[in-house]
Amino acid sequence: MTGFAADVLTLYPEMFPGPLGVSLAGRALGEGGWQLTATQIRDFAEGRHRNVDDTPAGGGPGMVMRADVLARAIDAVSPPDDSRPRLLMTPRGAPLKQARVRELAAGPGVVIICGRFEGVDERVISRRRLEEVSIGDYVLSGGEVAAIVLLDAVVRLLPGVMGNDLSGLAESFEEGLLEHAQYTRPPVFEDEVIPPVLLSGDHAKVDAWRRADAEQVTAERRPDLWAVHRATKGRK
Ligand code: ADE
Repeated sequence: MTGFAADVLTLYPEMFPGPLGVSLAGRALGEGGWQLTATQIRDFAEGRHRNVDDTPAGGGPGMVMRADVLARAIDAVSPPDDSRPRLLMTPRGAPLKQARVRELAAGPGVVIICGRFEGVDERVISRRRLEEVSIGDYVLSGGEVAAIVLLDAVVRLLPGVMGNDLSGLAESFEEGLLEHAQYTRPPVFEDEVIPPVLLSGDHAKVDAWRRADAEQVTAERRPDLWAVHRATKGRK
């Protein structure tokens, strides 16, 4: 059990908890293992139309989220002394990595701002010290799905959320390698057998096979990860 508290600011609070309400994260949420609050940004807008966005300064297409409205929403859920990081989900952000996911899981929680439209006024990013985070080099229609991805990755690491059986998986990624291939019953599937070494009962040989497979698949699929692995951990 932890007091991990996630606040999400969004124009679509009905998207939460969404997938976070089922499976491991959902059970932990139901048991009070973590807290999730989705807040409607529009509730902090003023005027008859409650506008949260406006046309970009300098012209051009699309709309930009207003700094004043977003700042009021942020201040309502995250006062200046809040120790939780404030994340802005945006394709302009720093790529999310497992190392940051681990840091977040070890902390008190997160405040996540979901961007929409063409962007967010730069002044609220600097004044509220928002950490811009991207989940990959593609453009989603908004930050909500990205926030769900980030929270899923974080919540599974909270103490007591996941069985210990899966902890090895995270450790493997920690080493900078992709996972080795997996097999289970039946022993023959459409004429294809399980690599015999995996059924040999020789744990040292199984470990060596898995290691070699992980290295091969990483080198083939992710030359970027492979280069880092070889330059660091691979040296020992
Ligand atoms: N919003 C839109 N696209 C995104 C991405 N790739 N990562 C995070 N937030 C986003």
